[in-house]
Amino acid sequence: MQFFLKAPAKINWFLSVVGKRPDGYHDLVSLMQCVDLFDGLQFSGSDQIEVISEIEVPVKDNLVYKAAMLLREKTSYRGGASIRLRKEIPMAAGLGGGSSDAAFTLLGLNRLWGLGLGREQLMGLAADIGSDVPFFIAGSTAMVEGRGERVMPLAAALEATLLLVNPGIAVSAGWAYGRCNPGLTKIPFDIKLFCQAFAGKDRAALSDMIFNDLEAAVAAEYPVIAEIKERLIAEGAVAACMSGSGSTVFGVFGSEEEALRAANGMSPYWRRVVKTLSENYDV
Ligand code: C5P
Repeated sequence: MQFFLKAPAKINWFLSVVGKRPDGYHDLVSLMQCVDLFDGLQFSGSDQIEVISEIEVPVKDNLVYKAAMLLREKTSYRGGASIRLRKEIPMAAGLGGGSSDAAFTLLGLNRLWGLGLGREQLMGLAADIGSDVPFFIAGSTAMVEGRGERVMPLAAALEATLLLVNPGIAVSAGWAYGRCNPGLTKIPFDIKLFCQAFAGKDRAALSDMIFNDLEAAVAAEYPVIAEIKERLIAEGAVAACMSGSGSTVFGVFGSEEEALRAANGMSPYWRRVVKTLSENYDV
C-alpha cells in the first residue's frame, strides 16, 4: 500500500497566554485554523521506520520520526514504514508545520498499519509529541486550551484570504513563551462576537480581537515583526498579527487580488497568499 497525505499549516486568530503552569508550560486560550499551505507525506510499507526528507533535521528533533516510533511502541505494532516528507511550510515559523507533520504521521500510519485507532486515542498520543499536535488531529478550526491538549472543534466556517509573511527568522517556541508576560490576556473571549465581526467584516472589531500575547516579546527582540505588521496594514490588510510564537505575520485581506498586490510590496521576505480551510478531514 502506498498513499499521500497533505499536512496543512495553521494560524492563530488569537493567542492568549493565561499563566505559567507548574510543569513549565503555559496555559493558553487560542483560536486556531488551518490554511491551504501544505507539507506532503508519502507513506509506504517497509521493515523499519525510515523518514526521507530533503531537510536536515536531527532524528531526535524530527517529529515525524518521533510520532512513528511512539505509535509503534504504544500499539506494539511489529512492522515499519517509509515516510517521504516534502516541506513547504517554513520551519520554526509559528505555522505549526512540524506539529502538523507529526499529526498526519499518526493519521497516515493508523491507516497504513490498519490499527483502527479513533480520533480520541490519536489525540492522546499527539499530546505526548507536542502541544499543537492534537489540534491537527481534531480538524481545521478549533478553540484550544490548557497546554494545547484541550481542543474544541468549531463548526463555524471562517473563510478568509490571508497573506503570510515570514522574515526568515527561526523562533524557538520555548524562548518566546519564556519571554512573555502571562496575564496580559483579553479573555473571557466571546467566540460568537468574533464570528459576528468576521461575517460582518467589522474592521475595527476584528483588529481588536485578532491578537497574540507572544507578539510583544518576540517583536522586542526582532523589530522586523512590527515592521511587517505595519506594512501589511499600510498595504490594506483589515488586521495583521503574528502567528504562534512567530516569526510569520499574517494579514487579513478582502480579496485574493488585494492580498496578491500586497505580496508584491512585501519583498524581500518569504510570502504566500493562502485561504483558510473549513472542512474537516476523516481519521
Ligand atoms: O509542546 P512543544 O514541544 O511544541 O513546546 C515547545 C516549548 O514551548 C515548550 O518546551 C515550552 O517551553 C513552550 N510552551 C509553553 N506552553 C505551551 C506550549 C509550549 O510554555 N502551551
